Amino acid sequence: MPFDLSALPKSVTAESVLSVKHWTDSLFSFQISRPSAFRFRSGEFVMIGLMNDTKPLLRAYSIASPSWDDKLEFFSIKVENGPLTSRLQKIQEGDYVLLGKKPTGTLVLDALLPGKRLYMFSTGTGFAPFASLIRDPETYERYDEVIVTHTCRFKDELEYGKQMVDSLIADPLVGEMVEGKLRYFSSLTRDSHPVEGRITTLIENGRLFEELGVPALNPETDRVMICGSTAMLQDTKDLVEKAGLTEGSNATPAQFVIEKAFVG
Ligand code: A2P
Repeated sequence: MPFDLSALPKSVTAESVLSVKHWTDSLFSFQISRPSAFRFRSGEFVMIGLMNDTKPLLRAYSIASPSWDDKLEFFSIKVENGPLTSRLQKIQEGDYVLLGKKPTGTLVLDALLPGKRLYMFSTGTGFAPFASLIRDPETYERYDEVIVTHTCRFKDELEYGKQMVDSLIADPLVGEMVEGKLRYFSSLTRDSHPVEGRITTLIENGRLFEELGVPALNPETDRVMICGSTAMLQDTKDLVEKAGLTEGSNATPAQFVIEKAFVG
């Protein structure tokens, strides 16, 4: 035991690390135990962290696993001198991670009005909340078409998302649920790839819609969720608003939502 569990603040629990996978020098994912009292909606985030001497060091992380799963999964960057991720990247099976008790967030199905097509635009680790939502049957109950886009700098950074989508489609149980509905679109900005360029550029020049064979964004039929860096959120939001979509919230569902706690 790396620290005295009786000294834990009341706002967190200590959960054991069940698995860790390193995807690139700067990206890893891990799974931890889920307390039975821990409830969340797919797409939400929660505080997680480690003890720093006697104090908890916590950051907001999107939960990457769906709400029905008995484990909690997270997808994280590794920042060399980052106070938390420099240590978090070293966790191993059997270690403890602190988990906040109050998940919350804006990237939830309840914050959107019904529609035909759901877009999820992500960059980098912004794929995480969508890893949760694309594994939730409710997403497919609400929409005819679910389009998840992921843009990264380099090819390896797409692997976590790409493998997840591939395994969903290949899974005999889930495959049926996502069949013909889930579509994955990727682009790279600093590597060669079938489609290159920022998601904002691809929305603006229409390439995204051409590649997918769908009409341009339409507030009547389309709903949008956005997750990425602060600059990406702002630029994508501007484009989505230009297309006539209005921002929704838990209290007032509308046509698009952006991640409000995501820290790249
Ligand atoms: P780029 O390589 O052109 O900066 P980051 O790690 O910086 O968050 O970047 C992840 C991905 O998001 C990269 O492909 C990056 O493209 C892209 N990106 C960065 N800033 C924006 C933005 N303001 N709008 C859209 N995409 C962005």
